[in-house]
Amino acid sequence: MGYLLFGGYFPLLHKAPKITADWTINDTELMNMKIGIIGTGNIGATLARKLLSAGHEVKIANSGGVKGVQSVADDIGAVPADVHGAVDGVDVVVLAIPLPAMASLPAGLFDGVPPQVTVIDTSNYYPGMRDAAIAQIDAGMAESVWVSAQLGRPVVKAFNNVLAHTLAALGQPAGTPGRLAIAVAGDDPMAMQAAMTLVEQAGFDAVDGGTLAQSWRQQPCTPAYCCDLEAPAMARALAAAVPGKAAAIRDRMPAQFAKLGAHASHDDIVAMNRQLNV
Ligand SMILES: NC(=O)c1ccc[n+]([C@@H]2O[C@H](COP(=O)([O-])OP(=O)(O)OC[C@H]3O[C@@H](n4cnc5c(N)ncnc54)[C@H](OP(=O)(O)O)[C@@H]3O)[C@@H](O)[C@H]2O)c1
Repeated sequence: MGYLLFGGYFPLLHKAPKITADWTINDTELMNMKIGIIGTGNIGATLARKLLSAGHEVKIANSGGVKGVQSVADDIGAVPADVHGAVDGVDVVVLAIPLPAMASLPAGLFDGVPPQVTVIDTSNYYPGMRDAAIAQIDAGMAESVWVSAQLGRPVVKAFNNVLAHTLAALGQPAGTPGRLAIAVAGDDPMAMQAAMTLVEQAGFDAVDGGTLAQSWRQQPCTPAYCCDLEAPAMARALAAAVPGKAAAIRDRMPAQFAKLGAHASHDDIVAMNRQLNV
């Protein structure tokens, strides 16, 4: 069951998904979904495998068109698509591409996509390290609000505040003691329900992080970011975030990361994040 923070959504819905210990969900609308994933790197490929395992139909696309994604799709067992195919006829679109690349997706990509289709944004912004500077975000706009503006439609922010290793290797069945959490933020109750369900099926407690405007609380270098937290600690971390503080911490991160050396373990990185992001 999703963990509620800023108001919570599940009580508003017709029914919350019932998730059992064997990861099945007793809500036919949330089983066997058609999912299109754009981006087949660390996050996209991992999610494709997990969501296929959960029983969904999964199409994947990268920047190479159908031919370019074919071998990855064969390896995963997903259907290869171009980006247009990935958003066509699906219930959920997952965007697992670098944040600046959102602006270079084809114009009008979502024009024919019905409004009830959930779009999940997994992206994070790393100016000066990986990404070109984006003035609106630097001025304080929440990253996923900017993404939503680029796409011209609402998004839900999810899967951004765990490391790729956490997503790939540290998921657990619902109810397992010590199960880690992932924050989910967005404005539409049904889209939140879909995204939180996918988080649960991926092996994590879904923690409601509030509206998309509040999603800055789960951005890079906030207390809730990539610290491998259980749900109660995740909720406390989201609440503890201080506006404007994370960008300065983020800018100090490369130096801190360098101190860990070339062979830093996952645990080393999480320990650094726990110390740095408070
Ligand atoms: N890595 C992490 O630990 C982590 C954790 C949480 C969230 N995230 C976020 O999740 C997103 C994906 O991260 P990642 O680590 O999976 O990245 P990645 O391994 O570098 O993979 C990026 C993927 O995006 C595709 N792509 C890039 N531009 C595209 C475009 N214009 N159209 C279609 N596909 C495009 C790439 O396809 P090609 O190879 O064909 O170019 C590639 O498959 C990022 O925003 C990142 O910040 C990452």
